[in-house]
Amino acid sequence: MAAAAPVEAFKVNFYVTTPIYYVNAKPHLGHAYTTIVNDVLARFHRLEGYDAYFLTGTDEHGDKIVRAAEKEGRSPREYVDEISALFRAAWPGLSISNDDFIRTTEERHRRVVSRFMDLVNRRGDIYFGEYGGHYCFGCERFYTEKELVGGLCPDHGVKPEYISEKNYFFRMGNYQDWLIEHIRANPGFIRPERYRNEVLGFLREPLEDLCITRPKSRLTWGIDVPFDDNFVTYVWFDALINYISALGWPDGELFGKYWPVAQHTIAKDILKPHAIFWPTMLKSAGQEIYRHLNVHGYWQIGLSKMSKSVGNVVEALSMADRYGTDAFRYFLMREMAFGLDSEFSEDRLVERHNSDLANDLGNLWQRSLAMIQKFSAGRVPVPDGLEPQPDDGEWLGRAVALAASWRQAFGSVNPREALALIWDHVGLLNKTIDSEAPWVLARDPARRGRLEAVLARLAGGLALVSALFWPVMPTTAENMWLRLGLDPGAMTSDPAAIAALLAHGRPLSAGQAFFPRIEVPGAAEGRARPARAAAHGTESPGPAKAAPGAAPAEGLLTIDEFRRVELRVARILAAEAVPKSDKLLRLLVSLGDDGERTILAGIGRHYRPEDLVGRLAVVVANLAPARLMGQESQGMVLAASGDGRLLLVTVAGEMDPGARVS
Ligand code: ME8
Ligand code: MG
Repeated sequence: MAAAAPVEAFKVNFYVTTPIYYVNAKPHLGHAYTTIVNDVLARFHRLEGYDAYFLTGTDEHGDKIVRAAEKEGRSPREYVDEISALFRAAWPGLSISNDDFIRTTEERHRRVVSRFMDLVNRRGDIYFGEYGGHYCFGCERFYTEKELVGGLCPDHGVKPEYISEKNYFFRMGNYQDWLIEHIRANPGFIRPERYRNEVLGFLREPLEDLCITRPKSRLTWGIDVPFDDNFVTYVWFDALINYISALGWPDGELFGKYWPVAQHTIAKDILKPHAIFWPTMLKSAGQEIYRHLNVHGYWQIGLSKMSKSVGNVVEALSMADRYGTDAFRYFLMREMAFGLDSEFSEDRLVERHNSDLANDLGNLWQRSLAMIQKFSAGRVPVPDGLEPQPDDGEWLGRAVALAASWRQAFGSVNPREALALIWDHVGLLNKTIDSEAPWVLARDPARRGRLEAVLARLAGGLALVSALFWPVMPTTAENMWLRLGLDPGAMTSDPAAIAALLAHGRPLSAGQAFFPRIEVPGAAEGRARPARAAAHGTESPGPAKAAPGAAPAEGLLTIDEFRRVELRVARILAAEAVPKSDKLLRLLVSLGDDGERTILAGIGRHYRPEDLVGRLAVVVANLAPARLMGQESQGMVLAASGDGRLLLVTVAGEMDPGARVS
C-alpha cells in the first residue's frame, strides 16, 4: 500500500464532458456520437495511465422542456425524470464509461448555480434592464434583427416572437477583449481550427450583454435567481455550470483535481454558448478557464440504398443493436473526420464492417491464431527464447512509431486518424503473413527460428493493435487479449511491455471468429449476378486473401478446397418468419449427434414455415457464423433456383440427420 501512494501522486489528470442533453427528445445518433467520442478520449487517457474523469448528463430546465412536457400532458417533473432515465439507460449498452451523470434538476447543481450567480453579481457584472428582442423558443434565445434570416430564426426557420421585458443581464461585453486575447494566446483552446476562426469571427462584432433571467410570470421551471424571487435563471446560464457543479465547485476535491485540465466536447450547434458565454462567465467569477473545447460536425442521415429503415437519427442509433456495439463505435469513429459533417448510412456501416473488421482484422486474427496453433502448439514462441533476426530492430521500431503517432492522434482528438494508423498496421501484419509464408517456413527445420519469430510478431502485433483500438472497441480488445493468453487488466500500448507480457502468457484460444461478415439480404438485387447463395442462407466468401498454400487455376476449386466444405443432412425442427423480412426464415435444424443450429434462410417467399418442419435439408455446416437482420446464422441451407421457383435440396430417402454429403 505504501508504494501505491507516490505512483498515484504522479498520475496526470484528465477531465472530459459531453454537452448535457435536453430532455425534450430521446437519445439519438448525434448524442451517441459525442458521448462515444468522449468515452474514447477517457479510455485512451486511462490506458495511457491518466486519472480520467468523464461526465455526461441531462439539461432539464427552460420553456423548451415545459412545452415538450405539456405536449405529452405531463408535469415537467414527471417528464424530465422519464426522459433523463432514457439517456442514463442508453449509455451502458454503448459501452460508455462515464464516472458521473448530472441532472440540472438535482439539488447539488441548483445550489452551485445560485452560488455562482451570486458571485458574478457581487463582482458587479449583473445589472437589471429592459430588453426587447426576437425570441425563438426552439433556441431559447433572443435574436437581433441582423441575425434573423428573412425575419425567421436561422436555425428553426420559424418567426420568433417579439418579447419586451425587464430582466437581469450579464456584462459579457466587458470580457470581449480578454476573450479575444485568450483565444489568440492559446491556439488549441478551440479546436479544430475552423471553429476557432469562427469564434474569432463572431468576436469581430461588438459582444452584447447576455440576458440571464426569465420572469416567473412567464416561466417558473428553472433555478431561482438568488437575489430576486421574481426571476428564474436562463437555461444556458444554468446548464453550462453543470461542468463544475458535478465536480463540487468551489471547494470539492474533484474540482481541485479535474477542473484545471477540463475539456468539453460539443457539436458546432452549441459553439457560441461554450466558446463565448462560458469562458466569460468563468472569468467574471474569477475561475480558471477550461483547457480545450473540442468541436465536431453534424451527422446527416443519408439515403440508404439498402434499407429504408434508417430514416432519422433515432433509428440510426438502433444500428448499434443490429450490428453490435463495437462495430457501431468503430464505424462512427472511423467515418467522421472530427470537425466535419458526415453522412450516416447503414450501407456504409456494413461496408466498413465487412472490409475493415471482417476482412482485415478478422482474417488477420483467424490466420495468425490458426498458424500459432498449428506450428507452435498454441503457444506464442517466447521472446527470450527466440533466435535474433536481422530485422528485429526495424520491426520493434515500427511498433514504437505506430504507438507514438497513435498517441498524437488521440491526444489531438482525431479518432479517425488513430484508427487509420492502427489499420495500416493490420495491413502490414497481413502482408507479413503473405510474404513470410509461415506454412512454407514450417517445412524447413533450418528455418524454425524465422518461423517462431514471425509467429511471435503476429501475436505481439495482434496484442498491440487490439490495445490501441481498446478505446474504441473495448469488448473486442479485451476478448482478444484474453484469447491471446493475456490479462486485459494489464493492457498497455507499449510494444516492449507487450512482448514481456507475452513471454509469461498462457496458451492461446482461437475460439469463434470476430466480426463474421454481414450478408445483406437483397443487397445484390439489381446486380447482374443475383445473390444466389445469399438468398438462401449465409454465404461466406471466406478469407479475402488466398488461403495459405492454395493456388488453384482462376475460377476452379481444388478437390481439397471442395472437401473443406462440410455438407450435412439436417432435419428441420422448427421454422418461423424473421420479423420485418419477407424473405428470411429462421430454421432450427438438427445435425444428429452434432447438435442443433439456427440457420437463417432466404426462402420465405417460396415456403411457408409450417410446411418445412420435419423435412430433411442439406446444409453447409462449417460456414463462419454471419449476422442477418441482427440475428446470427450458423450455416446455410442449400436450395436450387430457376424460372422464378426455389426448391430445397434434400436427399432421396429417409436418413439420420448429421450424415455427410460428398
Ligand atoms: O444543445 N450530429 O442539448 P441537445 C452530431 N442542452 N452531433 C449531434 C447531432 C448531430 N446530428 N445532433 C445532436 C443542447 N448532436 C444543450 C446543451 S451543454 C451545457 C447544454 C449532439 O440535446 C451534439 O453533441 O440539443 C450537440 O452539440 C448536442 O447533441 C446537442 O444536444
Ligand atoms: Mg439541440
